[in-house]
Amino acid sequence: MFSHPPLTIFLWSLAVVIAYYFLSGFIWGAGYAPTSGKEIENVAELLEIKNGDTFYDLGCGYGRMIFTIAKRHNANCVGVEIDPLKCWWIKLMIRQKKLEGRVRVVHGNFLDVDLKDVEKAFVFLSTATPIMKKLREKMFQEMKAGAVVVSYTHRFKDWLPQKTQGKLFLYRVPELDQKIQG
Ligand SMILES: C[S@@+](CC[C@H](N)C(=O)[O-])C[C@H]1O[C@@H](n2cnc3c(N)ncnc32)[C@H](O)[C@@H]1O
Repeated sequence: MFSHPPLTIFLWSLAVVIAYYFLSGFIWGAGYAPTSGKEIENVAELLEIKNGDTFYDLGCGYGRMIFTIAKRHNANCVGVEIDPLKCWWIKLMIRQKKLEGRVRVVHGNFLDVDLKDVEKAFVFLSTATPIMKKLREKMFQEMKAGAVVVSYTHRFKDWLPQKTQGKLFLYRVPELDQKIQG
């Protein structure tokens, strides 16, 4: 059936691309699944994204969230992504969509990124690993009181959401003296 070499190579390449798309997240952590278009609007609404705001997607995948929010809400968007291939794709799309200056991707682990200027952020991670616990601790240490974070699907442990809308949880970084929450 696969005796035709070009077809065999094509099918193998396709299988590798599909496998990478779905499994790469597990290599880098948190799995990979994009947030749906409808939820992106709900995230923007919860975070009250306005013209000129700066929005961060920590673990931005292929950048769907940052591109949509930049275009629809005229916000400055920054994605942080650990997977080099996804970062390469986002950089390509930034050029193609002519969004240089409005969308930026940082390649690396968000646990190594300075979060002190992050005021509105989104995460879609996993509770199967300690990543959300570590990120929550870092957010409390570095982000200013009042900064807001929406998490999709998964709740942060030891942090009470201020608002819940379906599978979206809105958190507000507390004042220094209130940083221990139940
Ligand atoms: C479930 S996907 C969500 C993608 C995107 N935020 C969205 O909602 O469409 C999680 C992404 O986080 C990335 N990721 C996981 N751990 C990370 C880390 N420590 N630093 C940066 N990116 C990370 C994964 O590579 C994956 O692309």
